[in-house]
Amino acid sequence: MSCTGVTFSEALRPSLLDPPDLKAGLAAGLAAARARTLALLEPVPDEDLVAQHSPLMSPLVWDLAHVGFFEELWLVRRVGGEAPLLDRDELYDAFRHGRSERAALPLLTPREARDYVDRVRERALAVLERVELDAGDPLLRDGYVFAMIAQHEQQHVETMLATLNLRAAEYPFEDPAPPVTARRPPPEQLVDGGTFLMGTDDRSRAYDNERLRHERHVDAFWIDTLPVTNGAYLEFVEAGGEPPQFWSREADGSLVRTRLGRRERLPLDEPVQHVSWRQADAFARWAGRRLPTEAEWEKAAQGARPGNLAERFGPAPAGSDPDGASDWGVEQLLGDVWEWTASDFEPYPGFEAFPYAEYSEVFFGDGYKVLRGGSWATHPAATRVTFRNWDFPVRRQIFAGFRTARDG
Ligand SMILES: [Fe+2]
Repeated sequence: MSCTGVTFSEALRPSLLDPPDLKAGLAAGLAAARARTLALLEPVPDEDLVAQHSPLMSPLVWDLAHVGFFEELWLVRRVGGEAPLLDRDELYDAFRHGRSERAALPLLTPREARDYVDRVRERALAVLERVELDAGDPLLRDGYVFAMIAQHEQQHVETMLATLNLRAAEYPFEDPAPPVTARRPPPEQLVDGGTFLMGTDDRSRAYDNERLRHERHVDAFWIDTLPVTNGAYLEFVEAGGEPPQFWSREADGSLVRTRLGRRERLPLDEPVQHVSWRQADAFARWAGRRLPTEAEWEKAAQGARPGNLAERFGPAPAGSDPDGASDWGVEQLLGDVWEWTASDFEPYPGFEAFPYAEYSEVFFGDGYKVLRGGSWATHPAATRVTFRNWDFPVRRQIFAGFRTARDG
């Protein structure tokens, strides 16, 4: 299926993610990300790699070369101290051109981009081989910058999946049959009030915006055990609420959703996705509830285990992963769909930008809402209970749903 000999799902096998020593682990993380990128793009024809499928998204070939450029910048130039391999820095700097302008730039062709990312990787692995990872430099401590590059590439795979979802043509994918569940857990869980430790002090994998770990008080609250489903959201739509992106009606009146270009009957038991923050907030108010704050979400998620992160091409049915429940009995927090929270994206007390201000700092403020948890398109290397994602409150092309809460 893939020119690398590794398929999209094989790229996620634990053996590739859990090797014996630090340098081997970092190299395996980079290899897993690359295998996933190449396997994802392999069935896409060149004309669809260079096309602009939506003004919200870059051409896929831009993401591919940008992943290589970011790796070159940090691993080859900065850590390795080597000369540039590419003389077109401004094309692949995410802050120089808006996504909608990128198809018109003199980008590398798909073949050149694949060749470029290969050459960068060869140099990056040689740098990894020779550097000291226990040096005093916080970039290198525990291999931080190498893990950051793998994490960045995995995040772009999710971005590319969102682009492929907006493409008119169908993307060829096969999903295992959805897990069958007839469970009906209690609809909501009570989380006690009090202080808890929010964020992390980890400097080996976490991003700057997850630090510092700090005490946060929340009052007691109730939170949905499961994410809001398509079936529940449909009741809101029938009461006049705005439907999610990618829903439509057939001539016979039945509801379908389009997934990676494939039309399917709307699965009522799946978590709803492709809703904006505004839609999620409107649903919650219609239901007499509210969105949880970011702090409430993180407290409710203490002890949650990952499920359906990069395992399927869509969310698993609500209620199908009781084993992943948090200490508070809340399910499907890490995986399936990102979850909108009520909160703006703000720094934690003691925040320091690291290793560059453009990852988080320039986005702080009331323009963005925080999402938590990770979706079916998120790799386990690119989320955790403390991970913070953010987007504009009107966006719905991302794989985002939500759950609701109320005061305790
Ligand atoms: Fe990027």
